[in-house]
Amino acid sequence: MPQVPPDISEMTTVRRLRAAGCVFAEEEARLLLGSGAGTIELARMIEARTAGYPLEHILEWVEFCGLRIAVEDGVFVPRRRTEFLVHTAAQLTSPGDVVVDLCCGCGALGVALSEAVGSIELHAADIESVAVGCARRNVAPLGGWVYEGDLFEPLPDSLRGGIRTLLCNTPYVPTSSIGMMPPEARLHEPQVTLDGGPDGLEVQRRVAARAAQWLAPGGHLLVEASDDQAPVVAELFAAGGLLPRTVFSQELEATVIIGMRPADS
Ligand SMILES: C[S@@+](CC[C@H](N)C(=O)[O-])C[C@H]1O[C@@H](n2cnc3c(N)ncnc32)[C@H](O)[C@@H]1O
Repeated sequence: MPQVPPDISEMTTVRRLRAAGCVFAEEEARLLLGSGAGTIELARMIEARTAGYPLEHILEWVEFCGLRIAVEDGVFVPRRRTEFLVHTAAQLTSPGDVVVDLCCGCGALGVALSEAVGSIELHAADIESVAVGCARRNVAPLGGWVYEGDLFEPLPDSLRGGIRTLLCNTPYVPTSSIGMMPPEARLHEPQVTLDGGPDGLEVQRRVAARAAQWLAPGGHLLVEASDDQAPVVAELFAAGGLLPRTVFSQELEATVIIGMRPADS
């Protein structure tokens, strides 16, 4: 019997996405149908989206700071609010600076900072091999390096005391709140990318304790956290020998804590 071609018209696609609960069904349909995939592949992509897979994992890219960054299944999808961390870092970074993107996921933060500042020496690291592979696709074209391992462990020793800007968007969701996250995150992003332990700050605690050894005098560590967590993070930074300050973006609903290694330390 001849196969009936799948109906991937715009109207049907929007209707299916809307029925599956996609709030931005028209925009998503436009992106899926404009992806250049053939009919069979498109039908599979639409099916995956209606089954709840994140749009960015299906498209295999995410828009971040106006750039198209590769992202893939099993890798955290950079959030729009994190653009504020990059904008803040751009004000503290100069061309030629050594920048490290720790807990880099797909590497979006370092790539976007490089685009904003001009030529920087970019290093990135993550504990997950799938994230490291993905970050390499994004960072290598800029001449940067990506390492695999736990926090500072895989970084070359030559960076110790020389990092001007340390970007670090760690997991910071308290374990007990993971169950309240949207299913796209809860079901499709690995626990290690989201779970920050009992108070959400386990990874930041470890970063804050060691960052001063890796930063250059006058260099900055930047992390994202919730409003409630920010005062605790600032205390962790101070305990680690950094001068903390917190900045907010109402527009992006983002909170960034900056820690500077004193220039004379
Ligand atoms: C919230 S995601 C952020 C990813 C990326 N920075 C971004 O904003 O798109 C946190 C990332 O930290 C990584 N991670 C978690 N624990 C880590 C550790 N101990 N050492 C290095 N990376 C870690 C996860 O694999 C994940 O990619």
